[in-house]
Amino acid sequence: MRAAVTSAVGGPIEISDVPDAERRSGEILVRVMAASVNRLDRMVFERGAGMGRDAVFPLIQGIDAAGVIESGSGAMTTGLRVVMKPSIACRRCRWCRANRAADCVDAKTFGIDRQGGFAELISVPRSNLIKLPDEVSFVSGAAAAHTHAVVLRMIRSAGELPPDPVTMVTGAGGALGTAAVQIAAALGHRVISVASSDTKLLATRDLGALVGLNRVTGDLVNDIGVTTDGAGVDLVIETTGAAEVISEAYASLGRGGTLVLVAAAPGVRLELDALDVYRSRHRIIGSANSNLTDFTDVYRMLTIDGIEPVVAQRFGLEQAAEAMEAVLDRDRIGKVVIDMGDGE
Ligand SMILES: NC(=O)c1ccc[n+]([C@@H]2O[C@H](COP(=O)([O-])OP(=O)(O)OC[C@H]3O[C@@H](n4cnc5c(N)ncnc54)[C@H](OP(=O)(O)O)[C@@H]3O)[C@@H](O)[C@H]2O)c1
Ligand SMILES: [Zn+2]
Repeated sequence: MRAAVTSAVGGPIEISDVPDAERRSGEILVRVMAASVNRLDRMVFERGAGMGRDAVFPLIQGIDAAGVIESGSGAMTTGLRVVMKPSIACRRCRWCRANRAADCVDAKTFGIDRQGGFAELISVPRSNLIKLPDEVSFVSGAAAAHTHAVVLRMIRSAGELPPDPVTMVTGAGGALGTAAVQIAAALGHRVISVASSDTKLLATRDLGALVGLNRVTGDLVNDIGVTTDGAGVDLVIETTGAAEVISEAYASLGRGGTLVLVAAAPGVRLELDALDVYRSRHRIIGSANSNLTDFTDVYRMLTIDGIEPVVAQRFGLEQAAEAMEAVLDRDRIGKVVIDMGDGE
């Protein structure tokens, strides 16, 4: 099969003929039609590690994939259109037993712990596959597999929200940010998008954001005060991981507001006034990964709510190295996808 093989940390990524992926016991062989390139893929490429674990090179990367079952069995019949959940829960740890597979302590991830989606074929545990709705293209299916499902978990992790919640999304033009604007808007939130350029903000307005705030040309905390008549926001999904943005996000919370942290560079600190946290009933939570229910529900939302993941750039498998570079483009809006099919 053709595959993009990352030969060592930092590359090069070589497109080569390698032995076909073998169907492992209890697994299903999938012909990949599309796979997206995520920040996590980039992290593995640059540092040789992701999710706290070292990857072994040479490695076929790609944490997600959508495709067609090559050789199936039972309900997973040959020819069925499917999408694969990027992380494989251990099903044994305390969190898995508490139905919180997103918090599994021993999850394995495609493209880190085993072969990923940047290849024509991949073997996937049956429990990691769901049917891709007919209305959802392979490209959209792959684009949503990581980002949209983790966003739904982030919002659900925030627990009870007041009616018509005001939700702020930082880094709103990014892969996670565009997904967060779409999912929150579809759930009926009043979305405020925050980004560093008006072009990105304009794009997020099309995705359902009611207001866009430029944090470079404006004063974010002040602008949030004006926009919400001093009430602040109920929920922040903070996707930049930048210290300054995290501080501004916390300062933008209203009474009972929840800050969801999903990204941060090592050593990033947030200073808090403990008295303010409890008097204002603030909550700060960390969220990553998704449960299988989030994953399945997202594909239902894509269909019912007509959500179309934003794809910034598509590449063929032969251009996997360029796709890995495209993730670094700060002006990019949405996701980078490797399209191995006919675009459908
Ligand atoms: N917890 C999880 O489950 C989970 C899942 C997916 C991703 N993540 C993490 O979430 C973060 C965002 O992922 P993503 O895929 O949305 O990335 P992305 O597409 O590159 O978007 C990141 C956004 O952050 C902003 N940003 C601020 N400071 C930046 C900087 N120094 N360098 C680059 N961008 C900066 C940029 O927006 P502006 O220029 O407009 O500010 C950019 O659009 C990454 O750290 C990723 O690892 C976490
Ligand atoms: Zn587990």
